[in-house]
Amino acid sequence: MSAPAAVRDIARRRATIAGRTLRTDRWWLQPLITVVGLVAWVLYAVIRTATQKYYWVPQYHYLTPFASPCISASCIPEASHLGQWLPAFPPLVPFAIITLPFLLGFRLTCYYYRKAYYRSFWLSPPACAVSEPHKKYSGETRFPLIFQNVHRYFFYAAGIIALLNTYDSIVAFHGKTGGFGFGLGNVILLANVVLLWAYTASCHSCRSLVGGRLKHFSKHPVRYWMWRQVSKLNEKHMALAWTTLGTLALTDAYIGLVSAGVFTDLRFIN
Ligand code: FES
Repeated sequence: MSAPAAVRDIARRRATIAGRTLRTDRWWLQPLITVVGLVAWVLYAVIRTATQKYYWVPQYHYLTPFASPCISASCIPEASHLGQWLPAFPPLVPFAIITLPFLLGFRLTCYYYRKAYYRSFWLSPPACAVSEPHKKYSGETRFPLIFQNVHRYFFYAAGIIALLNTYDSIVAFHGKTGGFGFGLGNVILLANVVLLWAYTASCHSCRSLVGGRLKHFSKHPVRYWMWRQVSKLNEKHMALAWTTLGTLALTDAYIGLVSAGVFTDLRFIN
């Protein structure tokens, strides 16, 4: 029996109750928190990237991940770590336009975010034992949701982007008058990069890549060890998904505020 047919069969056998659910707890709270959290983050990101301002701190070479890689002729030349291959951007276009589709694709097709937005935005279903408003269900077997299966390719792209972010965080160990320098901004940039790697490594595609298609773990001890480490991270995938949204926004906000002169960076080594 195909999966959709099995699901239809279960739907036919659902208990016939008058109300939408018999649950009396606040089952709607979790989807509501998810909607508020994701909408707030997207609004923040759209506004920040559209301003094309306060993305670079010249004294310490801090570049916000929201503007990386800065490869447009509109970028401040020192912030263009990889050069300027693209012409000047009109207003409102994010400087990181080249990586945004891949990052967005990676998060949108992520197994955890799928669960989050299917439940919270599409209400399919909004919670356990709460009926959904949709009459039909075809899962991810048809257009457009069949495209969720390209997640593995976005995972490869996300790995390359994490490398870029790592490079930005290394370049940022820059002193006010040149040479080595170290401040609170470096701690924030570094923590963000470590957590981004943890989120990327905890991906289900990564777990399958590392330990999948093996008949005998005993014959592949290195891959088995790696699979166990990735599996441990994988258990925290939801927490990492949210934490990295937070650290991305925090890193961007910190660099934005230092760049705008609202406060100065706390320096440990100038
Ligand atoms: Fe979430 Fe791959 S499953 S990033």
